[in-house]
Amino acid sequence: MHLRIAVLPGDGVGPEVTQQAVRVLREVASIHGHSFHFEEHIVGGAAIREKGSPLPPETLDACLAADAVLLGAIGSPEFDHLPASEKPEAGLLQLRNALGGFANLRPVKCWSPLASASPLRSEFIEGTDILFVRELLGGLYFGEPRGITSTNGTSVAFNTMRYSVAEIERVARVAFAAARNRQGKLTSVDKANVLETSQLWRQTVTRLAADYPDVQVDHLYVDAAAMHIIMNPKRFDVILTENLFGDILSDEAAVISGSLGMLASATVGGAVDLYEPVHGSAPDIAGRNIANPLGAIASAAMLLRQTMKLEDEASDIEMAIENVLEIGYRTRDIVTSSSDRVVSTTEMGQFVSESLAAVADMRHAYHAV
Ligand code: IPM
Ligand code: MG
Repeated sequence: MHLRIAVLPGDGVGPEVTQQAVRVLREVASIHGHSFHFEEHIVGGAAIREKGSPLPPETLDACLAADAVLLGAIGSPEFDHLPASEKPEAGLLQLRNALGGFANLRPVKCWSPLASASPLRSEFIEGTDILFVRELLGGLYFGEPRGITSTNGTSVAFNTMRYSVAEIERVARVAFAAARNRQGKLTSVDKANVLETSQLWRQTVTRLAADYPDVQVDHLYVDAAAMHIIMNPKRFDVILTENLFGDILSDEAAVISGSLGMLASATVGGAVDLYEPVHGSAPDIAGRNIANPLGAIASAAMLLRQTMKLEDEASDIEMAIENVLEIGYRTRDIVTSSSDRVVSTTEMGQFVSESLAAVADMRHAYHAV
């Protein structure tokens, strides 16, 4: 299979983790005889420095012409003083909008070897497997009007939370379909006791539920959901929520998987699918070869599964990740005991790559019996 992947390393630890994800994809291609073509482009702070814009037209055009986009991370304190519309993050939001993916899938699971890496008690989190479906193109992130005005020497800032029925429906259908293929449970998270957007959200999800009689639906207010995710994460299967709530709850849920560095994401539904780890650019550890590349590598697995329908290859990557964790290899963020073998970003990528061939052999042997 031939695949063109636009690679946007971005800022901070982005280039380091992306490099390892690409290395793993190259290994998959060589084991399975696929041809993956990688094209690197600048975005975010790196693009502001070079081109004066966080999303240069060449980058966007290349992404629109690709089969999928693999992004590292975006953001740099160097640009903190800029207005929101000129920051590196604005490049990411423009890119998401232009690619058109409205459903951001963020799986959060407790990897058994990492259960003790979490500050939460293992018996509460072991077995957790949640899929967040975060609406990605609406709500406060994109609602108009927005801005800061100044009258009589006082500044007033405002943002708009806005959702149409169509915007809610399309992302909700992605979540229902996902739930159908998993445990058949969907929890919709909103703030319907206060917000009109949430009332419309709840009504719409409730109406759609009639089309999915095999999916069991419940609704939670976002404040309660934040608590239940920590108190009893195993009660969840698919969590559907709007843009900002999904941003916040997915970082919170990362605690279950031991580190934000473990989480992957896929953005689907638009012209070109976008894959990115959930973590940010982590400028404090950038350039030191210590960042955890597993979120980026797991995002590459999602790319193979969602865009390319290469299920075996995707699950091989996930199995390889599990293997290296079982052996005890850990980047610093997931170290739990003195017997762990602390490895660098590049070593972690290398170990996952090396483990792939063995995993693929095992799968073949298993299918053969
Ligand atoms: C995320 C990030 C982004 C977001 C930032 C970098 C704009 O936090 O993907 O969760 O808020 O969506
Ligand atoms: Mg976030």
